Parts: sequence; C-alpha cells; structure tokens
Amino acid sequence: MITKWIDCLKMDPAHPERWLRDAADCLRDGGLVAFPTETVYGLGGNAYMDTAVSEIYRVKGRPQDNPLIVHLSRPEDLDQVAMDIPEEAEKLFAVFSPGPLTLVLRRNSRIPKRVSAGLDTVAVRIPDHPIASALIRLSGVPVVAPSANLSGKPSPTRAWHVRDDMDGKIPYILEGGPCRFGVESTVLDLNGEQISILRPGAITQDMLEKVLKRHVYLPGERKQTSAEEPPRAPGMKYRHYAPKARVKILEESDKARLEEELREALSQEGEIAFYLSDRTAELLRRMGGNRAYGLITFGEGAAPASAGLFDAFRRFDELGVERIYVEALSDRGEGLAYMNRLRKAAADKDRKPN
Ligand code: TXA
Ligand code: MG
Repeated sequence: MITKWIDCLKMDPAHPERWLRDAADCLRDGGLVAFPTETVYGLGGNAYMDTAVSEIYRVKGRPQDNPLIVHLSRPEDLDQVAMDIPEEAEKLFAVFSPGPLTLVLRRNSRIPKRVSAGLDTVAVRIPDHPIASALIRLSGVPVVAPSANLSGKPSPTRAWHVRDDMDGKIPYILEGGPCRFGVESTVLDLNGEQISILRPGAITQDMLEKVLKRHVYLPGERKQTSAEEPPRAPGMKYRHYAPKARVKILEESDKARLEEELREALSQEGEIAFYLSDRTAELLRRMGGNRAYGLITFGEGAAPASAGLFDAFRRFDELGVERIYVEALSDRGEGLAYMNRLRKAAADKDRKPN
C-alpha cells in the first residue's frame, strides 16, 4: 500500500483542502488515517465499522483484549456512542472538552463490541486539535483511535514517528507538527461508586476534584471489589512506551546524590544517552570529562519533560544507543503522567511485548 502523506501544517482547518476531505472520506469508508491530536498521534478508523476496528488491531499488532478510545468532534454527539450518561460526564466535558480527558461510560449498542474488547463500557474523548476536529467532523462518524504506534513502541508525538511505524500499512498520514502534551490523555472511569483515574495524563486528580467536588481515586488507590472483576484498564497491564534501549531512571533529587548517579552512569560501558532538565544537564557537562554521550534537554518541569520524552526515546533509538538515563521528577500533579510513562518504559525490559 502507498501511504499518502498530507502536510496539514499550512492548512486552514476551517476551509479544509481537498486532501483532507479525501482522507475523511477514506476513513468513513473503512480506511485508516493517522492524525495529530494535542496528546499523541492517533490511528483513526470508523467506529461504526467492525472491519475498520479489526484492521486497527491488526495493523498495530495490538492484543484483542485492550479496548480503544472513540473520538468525537463535539460533546453534543456523546449520545451516539454512550448511554445513561451521568451528570459528572457533562460537568467534566463542559470544562475539559476539547482536551486530554477520556471518560469511560456505558457503551451504546451502535458501537461494535470489538471497540471495547467485549466490555459493556466505552472510552470517549474530544481531542483539542484543529486537524483532528476537522477530520472527525468531515468524516461524519465517531472515530476510534489508539495511539498510532506499533504495539509496545513509544506513542508517536511527531509525524515522522508515525511514518516509521505505519508507512506502507495505512492509506493516509496527516502531518500536524509536534504534539503539545506528548503523553496520552487522562482516562477516567465514571462507572461504579468510586470515580477513578485509570491512566494519568495532563488533566490531573486536583483538576478533576475541583470540578466534581469529590474524591477522585488515583491508579492503584482504588480497591478491587471482587477478585472476579475484570481489570478496569485492561491495556495498562501490557508493556508500553519502551524504546529498544534500556531505560534507567535517575531517581535522586538531592544535588550531591544526583551527581553520584551521573558519575555512575558515565562509568558504564557502551553507548549511553541522557534526557535531562537544563539544570542537571549543566551539572553533567561540568563532570563529563572525555566520555561521549547523547544528550537531550527539556528545560524545567513536568510539562516540557512529558512533551519531549517519547521523541527522545525514538531519537536515541535511531542513534543505536544502549542505555538511556532519564531524570525523575516529582510524581505530584502533572508529574504523575510523566513518571508513569517513564516507569513503564524502564520496567521489564526483557519481557516480550504482548
Ligand atoms: O491521548 C490519547 O488518549 C490517545 C489519542 C490518540 O487520543 N489515544 C490513546 O489510545 O492513547 P490507546 O489505545 O493507546 O490507549 C487507550 C487506553 C488504554 O489504556 C485502554 O485500556 C483504555 O484507554 N481504555 C479504552 N477503552 C476502555 C474501557 N472501555 N474501559 C477501560 N479502559 C479503556
Ligand atoms: Mg497506546
């Protein structure tokens, strides 16, 4: 298959060009279209077509028991994909849509079971990106879209990441520049008595609690009510986000001990690379000596660190680096999403991706 690459960077989404219409038609008719969102690139298909949904699982090499997110262009369409929509969902979407928040609701029967891997729930989100909104609107259907990477690889946050994984396998890739957040949306479960975050993202526990005026559980904080109950976030058990290189976390925040960790890293054999804040990179430069290493810096704080993490993984893999040392941040607030992805990337390097 020849993949058409559409440069949307200069396109005015209010007056979409023919190419974007062609891509939207293709999507509606069952083809797959990779498109930018504010979190990561998505691999989109028509949510009403069982064949398109199967094709997504096949192309990604995704396990069948890991459900997909349905994307809408506006909250008014929620009842086309979900039912018995709780008041909390409306409150949250009034504040955070469009944006990086996915709500798990009861699935409407128009949405094939396969989308939700057989669950009677459905995950829904309204992305905050003009190209994503235009594509969904023009296609005229809800768009099911996992991250546009091969299963097990880091999520794509640049169009070239998508090309590396999907070229020749899907009809369209829409180029929309780097993704603003760089980590996937917050997934929030609104079924059941407790409201719980299944996957942390840019919309934090604090932000959600302010709107809902009640406790929102963090992943792991929630008690499983019965041993028989299926996992609430089925996808979270799989290995994710991992580059080919081994990922090592620099855990220390105290300067002297961090310096010790950097010294230890520099003493290792083989090709190594670092993903660091500007401040820590300065420390490293002063002690680097003759050791050659790769270095990408992210400035300061969780937002820029998240935005650049997956891109750094892919760049270092291109260079053939063996070990990537990544600076830990506080896992409070928006740091939680960053640390969650980082810990998954560092875990179980030898376990096979499922
Ligand atoms: O930011 C994002 O959410 C991106 C962009 C493309 O929108 N999409 C994304 O999709 O990250 P994916 O397929 O890589 O991750 C979907 C996550 C998985 O962890 C999955 O288990 C969870 O959402 N999920 C989907 N449907 C669910 C459901 N019905 N119940 C519980 N979790 C669900
Ligand atoms: Mg994914």
